[in-house]
Amino acid sequence: MNSIKKELYEMLNSFDVSPSKEYKKCIEKYLTSDLSFTSDLMSGLAKTIFQSKKMMAYYLLHNSIDEAKGAARLRMIAGRYADEELKQKMMRHYYDEMNHSKMFASLIPLTGFEAEPYHDGVAEEIDKILDFDDNIKTFIFRVHSIEVRSWRLLLLHLKIIDESNAEYMEEMRPTIQRILEDEMRHVSYTASYVSQWLHEDPELSNTFIECITHTNKETWEDLSSMAGFMRDNVQELMREADLV
Ligand SMILES: [Fe+2]
Ligand SMILES: [Fe+2]
Repeated sequence: MNSIKKELYEMLNSFDVSPSKEYKKCIEKYLTSDLSFTSDLMSGLAKTIFQSKKMMAYYLLHNSIDEAKGAARLRMIAGRYADEELKQKMMRHYYDEMNHSKMFASLIPLTGFEAEPYHDGVAEEIDKILDFDDNIKTFIFRVHSIEVRSWRLLLLHLKIIDESNAEYMEEMRPTIQRILEDEMRHVSYTASYVSQWLHEDPELSNTFIECITHTNKETWEDLSSMAGFMRDNVQELMREADLV
């Protein structure tokens, strides 16, 4: 068993979630493939981003916007399709993600750059949700795959921070750690639903795998937008690195 799967199962156990064999079967395919967020490219890109304060500011802003979009999705779907018990969990999740959005934005000044206000994105995301298959199970499958990604990426970020001796990174650490702890909780409660639904209806595994694939595809889009940002700002980034 590779270490990511092992860590996932251990974490779920620590939250009293024992994954079903149907869930585990999907995860075997999912986390062994080393695609997108588990790839070497992702860890290399994250290291490169963290070396530059300008890149870091862009990345933090991007995360802040993504958290707000995720929160908007959760609130809307919780209000429309979740039963009372799940709704309460999703609303707590919503507040966590809104908080993360603010927490990521609060780190931007540590890079010496200003947080640019943003107005776009969230409304657009709500339009997208209206097209969303109005199936709560599909939605939670998607959310779960995104939460697993957040958890892995934050662990990667903490590792890079711990290996660095840059002061601004050290200052970011407690906030990143707090966000990580919430993400672990999000992975766990969504896992318990996903695991149970797959157990009750193993046919749903196909939908879960589709959701995982979608998240991987989106991650590649994120990676390419990061690369695009580097291309567009290469002179400034080189100046920052004292190369020109
Ligand atoms: Fe979050
Ligand atoms: Fe989350």
